[in-house]
Amino acid sequence: MSNNGERLPVQPALAIFVGLPGAGKSTFYENYLAKTHQLVSKDRLRNARHRDQRQLELVRLALAAGRDVVVDNTNPSLADREALIALGKALQATIVAYFFPPDIPASLARNSQRQGKACVPVVAIMAKAKILQPPTLLEGFDAVFTVQTLERGQFSIDTGLGVTDHALPQATRDTVAPVP
Ligand SMILES: Nc1ncnc2c1ncn2[C@@H]1O[C@H](COP(=O)(O)OP(=O)(O)OP(=O)(O)O)[C@@H](O)[C@H]1O
Ligand SMILES: [Mg+2]
Repeated sequence: MSNNGERLPVQPALAIFVGLPGAGKSTFYENYLAKTHQLVSKDRLRNARHRDQRQLELVRLALAAGRDVVVDNTNPSLADREALIALGKALQATIVAYFFPPDIPASLARNSQRQGKACVPVVAIMAKAKILQPPTLLEGFDAVFTVQTLERGQFSIDTGLGVTDHALPQATRDTVAPVP
């Protein structure tokens, strides 16, 4: 059935993560957003070709279907976020940045606890730190939330309207690698 071009009664949310490898983004997603938001991550797309385009297409499909979506990449620079924000605006989504402020020693420590492919080269963390530009309302976000990844499965979220601290459920806290 056609909606005659009317807006959906509820705007879907487009959440864009911004943070270094090892910042805790995927852990945060799993524990706080997985129940409500579809995950899109170009890291998970097989074959390197046209990953950005394919990622955009997945975001477009989710938002067009009225689903909330998270883009779980490092998304460090304005250029990395520009097309996503433009797409979100075109589909009247509420666009929220979840900013994990860079903490190189903490990212290195968390990364070193990861096994196999999940453990990225140190240079990857340093390279992203060099180009990271904090997200702002000026680039088109409707809100910027700041997430501090604390020790032992804790996160602190500043929405601009107040700070809330969250602890992961005990079972999850027992499995995340403790930060030394
Ligand atoms: N609050 C926390 N307390 C303790 N350890 C944590 C916490 N959050 C994440 N970790 C651990 O830190 C490591 C990195 O976390 P995670 O994989 O979520 O980072 P990421 O930002 O998604 O990294 P990447 O960009 O490389 O995918 C994991 O081993 C995870 O278990
Ligand atoms: Mg991740």
